[in-house]
Amino acid sequence: MGNDLIQIGNAPPQGGSGVEVSATVEFALAPALAFEGMTFYIETFGCQMNVHDSEKVAGVLMARGYRPVDSHQEADIILYNTCSIREKAAQKVFSRLGAFRKARSTERKIIGVLGCVAQQEGERFFERAPQVSLVCGSASYTQLPDLLAQLECGNRRVKGLNLDTEDCFETEFTRRDNRFRAYLTIIEGCDQRCAFCVVPMTRGPERSRSGARIIAECRRLVDAGYTEIQILGQIVNAWRDPTLARWSFAELLSRVAEVPGVRRVRFTTSHPRYFTPDIVEAIDSHPVLCDQIHLPVQAGSSEVLARMLRGYSREEYLEKIYCIRKAQRAISLSTDIIVGFCGESEKDFEQTVSLLAEVEYDQVFSFKFSPRPNTAAREFVDTVSEEEKSRRLAVLQEVQRQIQLRRNQALAGQTFEVLVEGYQPRLGQAVGRTTSNRVLNFPGEPADIGCYRQVKVTSAGPNSLVGKKAVTSDK
Ligand code: 5AD
Repeated sequence: MGNDLIQIGNAPPQGGSGVEVSATVEFALAPALAFEGMTFYIETFGCQMNVHDSEKVAGVLMARGYRPVDSHQEADIILYNTCSIREKAAQKVFSRLGAFRKARSTERKIIGVLGCVAQQEGERFFERAPQVSLVCGSASYTQLPDLLAQLECGNRRVKGLNLDTEDCFETEFTRRDNRFRAYLTIIEGCDQRCAFCVVPMTRGPERSRSGARIIAECRRLVDAGYTEIQILGQIVNAWRDPTLARWSFAELLSRVAEVPGVRRVRFTTSHPRYFTPDIVEAIDSHPVLCDQIHLPVQAGSSEVLARMLRGYSREEYLEKIYCIRKAQRAISLSTDIIVGFCGESEKDFEQTVSLLAEVEYDQVFSFKFSPRPNTAAREFVDTVSEEEKSRRLAVLQEVQRQIQLRRNQALAGQTFEVLVEGYQPRLGQAVGRTTSNRVLNFPGEPADIGCYRQVKVTSAGPNSLVGKKAVTSDK
């Protein structure tokens, strides 16, 4: 969903010179921690899946003796975990690498590119950016220890670009960056073929983890002190238990919610095609499942949806929304929208605007269409000018701003439980999040961080609420 750049401090390696090798080569692991004590830094771009992948990569590296640091200047190994969802996102890694080309101080550092741009560009990276010595796509992360071992043994350029995989990226240890919310991947890859989207080409085919493994990880997270679990998958509700247990996605949600000690469960991102009423029933039966659903619609016109190959019409999407609106609890809704997709007429666009008015989302992540390599839309004519895309985006965002302002203001006087995620000393404000995923600021203290507090809303803006503590509550 809509975040373009997230930075994680951490990460690892360094190599010598020599032959270029492929990750598919059989390789005896380097016997010991040859790089023990070396430092690494990872910068992460893109979605929560990338953020969590970086956490797992950091875990893999730390288990091998590398030490995370907070800046690339201190690091022996610099890794960029990249995003290629839109052209702008993909360019970010090249601008980072460009800065290094100028800075001679990087000569002894190892620079690796991970994630979607790594997969998309593959070996071309070594030509475009000779300072890069490791290129690895997310479907090949289980090969990372081997790749690092190859670097340790003196190979200069290593790659892991295999997409033909059934692997889920299971790690012994994940170095989690968020102290309060733990990400938990249940499904990797994507089998959809949405005309605009590069993800199936960069993340490989869908692979579901077994329900038993997921629950086991969830228990470990509770033992580690986490109370909020965010379940992740590109198409999270396409998850199907690959074992004979055959749980449905809704059953999995219920079972995660029933793990003792879990207080909040979120899940993202759902595809409307797989959004079934039993998911809403699970939310109704388990208060631990948060009052929040992210259901990307992409466009409000059925013709555009058909060209996007989304697999549903406007009417079918709205039926899912009505099913969610009938839930016993008010469930907050968010979505993703692309404006200016190939052939989107003014009338099509107006239908997207009218859909926003009809659904009244609590949050919308909106983007200008950006043609991507290896997608069906690459063959379509990109009919909408950049200027017009910008205009439509601005119109849409203003409509949505008004909707959010109105919806948030209607919450004044109500009390919500928030999990406090931060504290701003300058303002004396604690920053909490409601189960509906709204940010709620209130006068608090550092000791509130990590605690659940009851907060009464006193005022609201389009993007956050302001309140005051209602009663002192437990942790
Ligand atoms: N151009 C613009 N936005 C895109 N998205 C995916 N591909 C593109 C593209 N080519 C948006 C979709 C998706 C979100 C993560 O990014 O809205 O849901």
